[in-house]
Amino acid sequence: MNNQNISFSIEERETLYNIIFNRRDVRAEFTSQPIEDEILARLLVAAHHAPSVGFMQPWNFLLIDEKETQKKVHKLFDEANKEASEMFEGQRKNLYQNLKLEGLLKAPLHVCITCDRERAGPVVLGRTHMSNMDLYSTVCAVQNFWLAARAENIGVGWVSIFHEDELKQLLGIPETLHIIAYLTVGHVSSFNKKPDLERKGWRKRLNLKELIKHNNWQESTNDNLTSLIDKELKKQNPDERN
Ligand SMILES: Cc1cc2nc3c(=O)[nH]c(=O)nc-3n(C[C@H](O)[C@H](O)[C@H](O)COP(=O)(O)O)c2cc1C
Repeated sequence: MNNQNISFSIEERETLYNIIFNRRDVRAEFTSQPIEDEILARLLVAAHHAPSVGFMQPWNFLLIDEKETQKKVHKLFDEANKEASEMFEGQRKNLYQNLKLEGLLKAPLHVCITCDRERAGPVVLGRTHMSNMDLYSTVCAVQNFWLAARAENIGVGWVSIFHEDELKQLLGIPETLHIIAYLTVGHVSSFNKKPDLERKGWRKRLNLKELIKHNNWQESTNDNLTSLIDKELKKQNPDERN
């Protein structure tokens, strides 16, 4: 039988939304407790069930649990982060320098997720006209991993302040592959309610209503939908408008 009629209960639906709204990018809250292989196996299987253009599955998962290698990765971050802070000016620069943007030394596990753009040959169903679709497919795997981790009460942090070529060289990643995500993964002491960057005053969540267009880019959407969106947003952030 190829068809199956699975429908989810309201409670199950609520659980998924809870996972989505309570997922956080984790930096400071990792504990040193190693991740159980049973959990890691489930996260990797979840990632591997992401959608992909032409069913290409262009991803690989490089697991890094050697402390020495993790320290070398941290050093690469540190150097790139100094360069990054020079790109901001004045108060923004001060604020940037006070942000914690990685948990590389605390997290027991790093996972580097790569994209092999050649995996399914030169002509890929669905990638014929928009060539980045394989990269986006790999991002879907990252998101599956992240949400599954939250469901397991495991924290994930995405660290992207690196020179990609240096990271590839350090980890022995073939030149033809692309690094899509460098994740830190581990048990956590707690999950923050709000994104760190919001709590530290770097950026606020945007007003969703202003991001929705209807039929034509010049048209916003109807009042009924916007008031329902307001209602949903209030459930998440009772004190705020967006
Ligand atoms: C593609 C991508 C790259 C990111 N790179 C970094 C990073 O280098 N350092 C960092 O602290 N957070 C990084 N983040 C996490 C974002 O800062 C975070 O998702 C955002 O502030 C919202 O917070 P939340 O994930 O807790 O909801 C990255 C997120 C994405 C999706």
